[in-house]
This record gives sequence, C-alpha cells and structure tokens, in this order.
Amino acid sequence: MTDTFELATLSVRAGQRRTEFQEHSEALFLTSSFVFDSAAQAAARFTGGEEGFVYSRFTNPTVSMFQDRLAALESAEACVATATGMSAILATAMALLKAGDHVVCSNAVFGATVQLYAGILARFGIQTTFVSPTEIADWQRALKPNTRLLFLETPSNPLGVVSDIAALAAVAKKAGALLAVDNALCTPALQRPLEFGADLVIHSATKYLDGQGRVLGGAVLGSKALVMDGVFGFLRTAGPTLSAFNAWVILKGIETLELRMLAQSERALELARWLEAHPRVARVFYPGLASHPQHALAMRQQRAGGAIVSFDVKGGRAAAWKVVDSTRLISITGNLGDVKTTITHPATTTHGRITPEARAAAGIGDGLLRVSVGLEAVEDVKADLDRGLGG
Ligand SMILES: Cc1ncc(COP(=O)(O)O)c(C=O)c1O
Repeated sequence: MTDTFELATLSVRAGQRRTEFQEHSEALFLTSSFVFDSAAQAAARFTGGEEGFVYSRFTNPTVSMFQDRLAALESAEACVATATGMSAILATAMALLKAGDHVVCSNAVFGATVQLYAGILARFGIQTTFVSPTEIADWQRALKPNTRLLFLETPSNPLGVVSDIAALAAVAKKAGALLAVDNALCTPALQRPLEFGADLVIHSATKYLDGQGRVLGGAVLGSKALVMDGVFGFLRTAGPTLSAFNAWVILKGIETLELRMLAQSERALELARWLEAHPRVARVFYPGLASHPQHALAMRQQRAGGAIVSFDVKGGRAAAWKVVDSTRLISITGNLGDVKTTITHPATTTHGRITPEARAAAGIGDGLLRVSVGLEAVEDVKADLDRGLGG
C-alpha cells in the first residue's frame, strides 16, 4: 500500500501480508526460527543474498507487518521495531553514535531518557548537553564540532512543552547532525515529525500505539540508510527485539489509533479547561489550551493537543498526593496512553530517579500531577479529581 491512502485507511490496512490460508485478520507467527529447503537456501538467507525470514531476533512476519504499518503512518522509508521505547532510544544511539560523539538533548524528556544519555551513554564516551526545549539559540550554542545527534520529545512528558521541529531540523542540518523526535505522545495520528524535517522518529509503542496498556514495544523510523543499515544492524546483533506477540497486539491496537487519539484529545481539552478554572489548581499544562505558551506552534505541528494533561495543585506534594489518594475511578499507575485514565505524581515516580536539580530544570514541581486522559466520560473523570481537589 502507498501513502496515497488516508491515515485511517493505512491504520487498518497497511503492511498486512496474508499467508496461503487467506486469513482475514493479521496472523501471529509465534516461532523462533524459520526452516529452509536446503543448505544452500539457509546460507543465502543468512547472508542476505535471498530475502526471507531467518530467526525472530531480526526477522518475523508479524513484526514486519507492524513495522510496515507504522512506516506507512509516519511516511517513513523504514521502521525497525524494538522491545520497548527505551530500547528504541538506546538502539538509535548505539547504532549511530560512537565514543567521542556529542548529543544535544532537550531537558524536557522522559526521566529514563535523561538517565540513558547522562548516565549510561556517558560511561561509553558519549557526552550530552541538555538544553531548553523551546530556546533555539540554546541548541545552537550547545553545538560542538563533534555533535552528531539532536534529541527531543514534543510535546514533552509530563509538561507538554512543545519544541519547534522544523526550526531544530534546520539547526541539525546546518551542523551536520541528525534530529531524532520521540513521537510517543502524539503518534502519527496527530503529528508526523519527518514532514517537518526530522531524520528519525522514535516511539514507545507501549503508549498510544497499543492504546490499551497491554504490552511493551518501541520503534525507530527514518530513511533506509539510517534505520536498516544502522539501527537494524544493532538490533540483529544485540537483540532488544520486539516479540511477535507484542507486535501482533500493537498492530491490532493501531487499527483504532486515529479514533482513540482524536476522542482522547477532545476529552483532554475539556478536562484541561475545567482544571484551568478550578480554584485549587495553580497552573495547567496542555498544548491544546489557548493559554499554553506554544499553543500556536502546537496547532501548526499537531492535529490536536493529545491526551496528557498536567497540572500544579496548590499546596505542593501533600495536596497532590491527596488528589491521587482520593481517586476511585482513575488508575494510580505510571503508564500513559491507555483508554483507561491514569494519574501519576511525576516528582516521586517517573522522574524520581533524576537529581532534584535536573527535576527543577525540567520544571517538575512537587505539586505536579499528570493525567493521561482515557475514554471514560469526562464528567466522571472530573468528579474523581474534584474529590481530592476539594472543589
Ligand atoms: C515520551 C516517552 N518516551 C519513551 C518512553 C519509554 O518507553 P518504554 O516504557 O516503552 O520503554 C516513555 C515511557 O513512559 C515516554 O513517555
């Protein structure tokens, strides 16, 4: 299938390959390896001289269907699936960077991403400078002759800070570096970073691509040269591969992606407006609100605001925890992107492992709560939050 089809059609149809049994729904290939007709064919498959499946660490038909579907949605030449979102970020770095290289990274990225760059990759000689996601001049100033990668998340988790993808793509291009965008919060249903000049798109498929909080997965998308010659080679050797079962679950999740993203964004906007008017709420962070500092940019890059609404409760950590502990409907859990609404206190959970300085730099205060808005009736979600807010 080509991308002359609309996104909704691609979500349901792209990438499907039927077997001789002509199954209607995509097949799940639970097999570690694939058999060959002869020694000669085995040799040809292993060297890549003949196309075909070999071993599920690097080739599996269900995983291929997932990769091809997501590539169609992002309009990417190539996609490689990974075990998790974090292994997608790791695989990108391991494949495309080497000791002595430098990375410029937004300081408003997921906590584990900060840990990966500042902690693990630093031990292997890759240095990272963290900068403001919105100040283009800071990115320019941070560039060094050995800068190879610019990395950002937009909108960011949990504060919904929006970075200008096109402007940062231009900065990267001029510096001879690559721009990678973590698109987990928007998915291609709302934002397609390659169209704005990004070189690579990263996904935590654990989030909206699955959409129902069932399995972990990830993906890296971009040109064939970057993804197949680079990231795929790392995955084939090192093995943080997506399992066939998880690929199948996510593949089926993608079929409802557009509907979910639009419906959840609509509910999130309504909740954000309600929170903004709430006397116990100091501030709401949601790109779909007119009061959001990058609202105009968000609406240029995104089809809707997404479904993550964060807000600062007056009264700091005690007041925020009271809201969490008073919920009866909303799930208290770290995951986001589910059709079930979830609530998290980032400072003590998802961002608990980064230093207080790094947390402060990222603007994550003690009163901050993150709500991942699901598909329940928004009135019920409001009532559940209002109990702890004391409205
Ligand atoms: C924006 C973003 N990127 C990456 C990740 C990591 O994904 P995973 O948990 O699938 O490794 C997360 C997880 O919450 C995330 O929110």
